[in-house]
Amino acid sequence: MTEKEVKDPDGKVVFRVVEYEGARFPVNVFGNVLNSLKALNEATLKESDVFVVSYPKSGTHWCYEIVDMLRNNRAEFTKHVPPLVGMLPAEKLMQVPDGVLVAHLLPRHMPKNAIQKRCKLVHIYRNPKDVIVSFFNFIKKTKDGAMMQDMEFDVFFELYITDQLPGGLWTKFVKAWSDFKDENPTYPILNICYEKMKKDLKAHVKMIADFLELKPSAELIEEIANKCEFQTMSKFKNNNIPENMRMVTDVRDKHIMYRKGEAGDWKNWLKVAQSEAVDAEVEAANIPLEIQYT
Ligand code: A3P
Repeated sequence: MTEKEVKDPDGKVVFRVVEYEGARFPVNVFGNVLNSLKALNEATLKESDVFVVSYPKSGTHWCYEIVDMLRNNRAEFTKHVPPLVGMLPAEKLMQVPDGVLVAHLLPRHMPKNAIQKRCKLVHIYRNPKDVIVSFFNFIKKTKDGAMMQDMEFDVFFELYITDQLPGGLWTKFVKAWSDFKDENPTYPILNICYEKMKKDLKAHVKMIADFLELKPSAELIEEIANKCEFQTMSKFKNNNIPENMRMVTDVRDKHIMYRKGEAGDWKNWLKVAQSEAVDAEVEAANIPLEIQYT
């Protein structure tokens, strides 16, 4: 495994990554990420397994809870860290009891068997400007991002827009998934827009239930939507931080996956030139999804 160093403009190493088939991954606390990724090709999944697929910081945990509640037919939050494909050993993924998994992977890195079996995919996407801000605030609190603790937003933005960070550019990720859908038009994949889901959570819970071919009662849909509003959900999560979050962060007084949960916070962070650079990226990528910036 060849590690690469990401450096800031002063030449200081701020992150360590490994490259695998054209994408960057963190040299992470879960162990050898390359072995985990390769092992995915040998993993056997079930037709009924569902994947929440997303670029990091797009509302993955939010969507995961909704899918998990629907699958379990009860409006109760999970108390564990969602099973992240590619980071956990493949054999653990095959043992996930309710078959709801999370992946920040490009289509070509997904477990082959899951795609062969046409496992349902719920893809949540969020406007890239808020994603960058969320990413910046998150990574500083992680063990992987310890060397970024004192970093200014402008430096982080430059590393992002020059495609040096793990996860790569948002545009590449979202375009890869829309290309996947173009190439596999009948594949069961549901695109969820974070900002639209915030505006009408109940309708989106119903939409996800329909996609999963589940028939929850109207009361359960209402209950899930109420529980998964940011205030209620973040309160629960802050009071129930899973023990194994210690692998990710030393922060214990708050759950670092729940910050503001807003649409449009980027306006407090991005300069005009930075916002325009993202706009140019998005326009060039020609993404066939509606992107909402507020
Ligand atoms: P912010 O950092 O902007 O607050 P992910 O789960 O993909 O890591 O995404 C994390 C982002 O989703 C964070 O964004 C987090 O606050 C937001 N989020 C989590 N739960 C949410 C909810 N119930 N409603 C809206 N946003 C939520």
